[in-house]
Amino acid sequence: MINPKLQDAINAQINAELWSAYLYLSMGMHFENAGYAGLANWYKIQFKEEQAHAEIFMNYLNSRGGRVELAPIAAVPTSWETPLAAFEDTLAHEETVTGLINKLYHLAIEENDYATKGKLDWFISEQVEEEETAKGIIDRLKLVGDNGMGLYMLDQELATRVYNVPAPLAAKA
Ligand code: FEO
Repeated sequence: MINPKLQDAINAQINAELWSAYLYLSMGMHFENAGYAGLANWYKIQFKEEQAHAEIFMNYLNSRGGRVELAPIAAVPTSWETPLAAFEDTLAHEETVTGLINKLYHLAIEENDYATKGKLDWFISEQVEEEETAKGIIDRLKLVGDNGMGLYMLDQELATRVYNVPAPLAAKA
């Protein structure tokens, strides 16, 4: 049975993942409305990934005899001046999530909960990837600047992103 401190912390992380999902869905809707079909696609897939992250934590809590307690999800921003502004917000948000995962990891060690620590290893690597991807898109958006053709080409490329079920969920299916 998982200890109550970790149960509370994982429930808070579930809320953070669902907030992330809500944020990226909002970005997806914003870009769909603004005519950037590729950016919209990219963010809608990001939305699904964040839902999957929440699901991984929910499955885990249940598997340890814990209780999932879903709290209200706070409001998210609804518009961004430019694609660059949205991706800069994305990177800043992912850096915040990395900090949350690191804190959770630290708590698992403090509480001698090595099963939770092991579960978090995947998330530690995932955060490196999330930050790297956002940084990469920011770099290219800066390179392209206001060039319409460049933006169009980047949008076309982001339209090709497909959703892959994250490994910890795929393994469960
Ligand atoms: Fe679930 Fe993007 O961190």
